[in-house]
Amino acid sequence: LFVNASEASGWKIPETLFGIFFEEINHAGAGGLWAELVSNRGFESGGLNTPSNIDPWSVIGDDSLLLYQLTAHHAFDRNKVALRMEVFCDSKGTKVCPTGGVGIFNPGFWGMNIEQGKTYKVVLYIRSLQSVNISVSLTGSNGFRTLATDNIIAADVSNWTRAEVLLVASDTNHNSRLQLTTSKKGVIWFDQVSAMPLDTYKGHGFRNELFGMLADLKPRFIRFPGGCFVEGEWLRNAFRWKETIGPWEERPGHFGDVWNYWTDDGLGYFEFLQLAEDLGAAPVWVFNNGISHNDQVDTSSISPFLQEVLDSIEFARGDSNSTWGSVRAAMGHSEPFDLRYVASGNEDCGKKNYRGNYLKFYDAIKLAYPDIKIISNCDGSNQQLDHPADFYDYHIYSDSNSVFSLAHKFDHTSRSGPKAFVSEYAVTGKDAGTGSLLAALAEAGFLIGVERNSDIVEMASYAPLFVNTNDRRWNPDAIVFNSFQQYGTPSYWMQHFFIESSGATLLNSTLKANSSSSLVASAIAWSEDDKNYLRIKVVNFGINTVNLTISTDGLAPNSFLSFGSTKTVLASSNLMDENSFKDPKKVSPVKSAVDGAGVNMNVILSPHSFTSF
Ligand code: AHR
Repeated sequence: LFVNASEASGWKIPETLFGIFFEEINHAGAGGLWAELVSNRGFESGGLNTPSNIDPWSVIGDDSLLLYQLTAHHAFDRNKVALRMEVFCDSKGTKVCPTGGVGIFNPGFWGMNIEQGKTYKVVLYIRSLQSVNISVSLTGSNGFRTLATDNIIAADVSNWTRAEVLLVASDTNHNSRLQLTTSKKGVIWFDQVSAMPLDTYKGHGFRNELFGMLADLKPRFIRFPGGCFVEGEWLRNAFRWKETIGPWEERPGHFGDVWNYWTDDGLGYFEFLQLAEDLGAAPVWVFNNGISHNDQVDTSSISPFLQEVLDSIEFARGDSNSTWGSVRAAMGHSEPFDLRYVASGNEDCGKKNYRGNYLKFYDAIKLAYPDIKIISNCDGSNQQLDHPADFYDYHIYSDSNSVFSLAHKFDHTSRSGPKAFVSEYAVTGKDAGTGSLLAALAEAGFLIGVERNSDIVEMASYAPLFVNTNDRRWNPDAIVFNSFQQYGTPSYWMQHFFIESSGATLLNSTLKANSSSSLVASAIAWSEDDKNYLRIKVVNFGINTVNLTISTDGLAPNSFLSFGSTKTVLASSNLMDENSFKDPKKVSPVKSAVDGAGVNMNVILSPHSFTSF
């Protein structure tokens, strides 16, 4: 491998090259990154038949009480459903309530993770024509072993009343539940029940460890909130940003009918923008363009959708006196968010109204916000687009050999026209298992190709990002979690090899003509704290050990010490090895010293490995 380390030999890699794609899939947000513990907090869940069920809320005390959902009385206009609970037992008299009382419980998203010493804020809305005495408790999964409890005692809640308790856990239980119980005969209505740990990232509601795993990738952009989630199977179930902002109590929530689960939309448009800001990543807002999987709005009727998109941009960027900027400011963010990228829909190219609708969106957005970059769903890698765009979207899910061979996908793509945004890539199928080394190596090869072609490819992100193991809707994924544990798949760790790339210089590097076709390599240089760094990355996708000579010239004098002195390897004894909750770092980068570092160095690349020097 010949590397010309003189920066003049290469070009500056775009600042935004490597980022992440967050989709509400696999409970990535609801029951994942978003730290809300209560599932279906407004009793509205029920999918296509909304409102129809209170799942996963359940009864404590069988024949002592009666529950049903009520639409006549509800605390908030945009949430039409509340829960009516009629209690037949009492603390004394003919029908005495069982010890602990009767009521309802919520197990959260397959168990709430309650940790000793931590504080949980429970907020709920209640209404009753009598005085109430309600115990709010965090308990073990069967209702025993109380971890924290407090009482709401109120003489007059004849109008909907907000109640709040802070519960400090005396013990740890990863499979807890929230209980609302009483031993008082009568009728109580409940609405909008939330339980949040106080300890979230900056108090912004993001589960700390999951946020940390994202931050460790140093993503330069975050594409959100989907994927198919944006589209919906039907437009009535698509992501509508206006329904996801404002006070959490007033958000209606919606049933994501592609991935088939309800979300209360606690992680809404505002929170996505906040997440981007907290990560130091540029937000990439994928808006619904009037097209779902099964229905479409005709271009002649698209103007309400247009207005919705313009309003969303004003919400993000408008000053706090603007109509929608003032709504953002009221939510606690008076400064605008740095929204510079929007995508018109997801995977909709070729659908009847795509082009017509796209052109309307393009013209209206460019007129109002000329600097905003617009991403088209149509793949421009093989032919010119028939419409204007700043980026074209490219998605690739395939077996490992195909993904590896796509390291050369962009070598001969036209350099004129829009830039490429590889917004979804992953090895899928049997090569991937539930996140294998093999998949990660193929993806590493592909990403090296992306890096080498970063004059035309400006953005790339793996998909999907998260999976809650209790509801795997798509496999594989980068980060795997349950209520209290998390680990990265090899594909997650593979991305760590690229965290210095965005904004660095891509150097000219050439593999000798007779090198194995199983090798791909790149070299980058960057400066940090007055030091110059050089990084060479090589994927050996073959079954043989490779003895490689790396010859470097043009190295700046003060680069030498850091260059080549250590290497980091992603490999394992078995190609299909995976990580797990038990062995979370079985396949993860291992750093070690290198002997004989220098401008001419001989290195050994083990079969099926990814190495950086
Ligand atoms: O990443 C999972 C899905 O794959 C996305 O929702 C969609 O864009 C693609 O088909």
